[in-house]
Amino acid sequence: MTLGKRISAISSEGNNVPHYLRIPAQLVAHTLYYFTKPGDLILDPMAGGGVVPDVCLLFERKCQSFDLALRDNRPEIQRYYWDPQNWTWPVTKKPDLIFFDPPYFSKKERDYEKKTNAESSSISSYTKEEYESFLEGFFLLSHRKSKAITRMALLNADWRDFESTPASKENPDNSITIFDYHRVLSKTGWEVTHRIECPLSSERLSGNQVQKMQDKRILGTVGRTLLIAKRS
Ligand SMILES: C[S@@+](CC[C@H](N)C(=O)[O-])C[C@H]1O[C@@H](n2cnc3c(N)ncnc32)[C@H](O)[C@@H]1O
Repeated sequence: MTLGKRISAISSEGNNVPHYLRIPAQLVAHTLYYFTKPGDLILDPMAGGGVVPDVCLLFERKCQSFDLALRDNRPEIQRYYWDPQNWTWPVTKKPDLIFFDPPYFSKKERDYEKKTNAESSSISSYTKEEYESFLEGFFLLSHRKSKAITRMALLNADWRDFESTPASKENPDNSITIFDYHRVLSKTGWEVTHRIECPLSSERLSGNQVQKMQDKRILGTVGRTLLIAKRS
């Protein structure tokens, strides 16, 4: 099987895992290809469905992956709760790259909440202030615990309260956008070197849905952004 087919197979293997817990494997493969080399250690702090460890295996990178929710058949993903009240670092060696794919603010909050409990709640249940302060704490900690050459790859999307709100009526106080991630990274000693746009498949929305959104003047989001940063 060609490398391309093996990468695609990783994306389709997780068909029983919700899509928001499995990012496209190609996205991880490209990140590893451009910013790491075989034998490098990759840290995946919020591993979800485990796409990053899967691609690391294929690309001969070492990987340490963590998540607060344990998944069946994924013993390599260690249960770990990043607790903003008590920051600790579970990684044994300094990583070469951190692939950080946290929940997109409150998107999918209800789905994540089913898998968590009061002591270790997903950051998707946080207020905007708590969410930003979590990011700040995590970026500071990872900056302290990494090497001079470590890269941070942060995947996220603009999160606005557009779901049932016309664009002109959106309240920016309720949104977290890539500019906010950029600001917090810079504030915590990470210099963004690349901003890579990752369009989402247009198949997610039927023509009918797009028409309905346009009629109500709702402006959706059709992409994610990968920010690559190095220690400044
Ligand atoms: C967007 S998903 C990651 C998807 C993953 N990159 C994939 O495609 O396979 C985010 C994950 O963060 C985890 N999470 C949220 N808050 C957490 C916390 N405080 N500590 C550890 N994991 C957390 C959730 O359980 C969820 O699995």
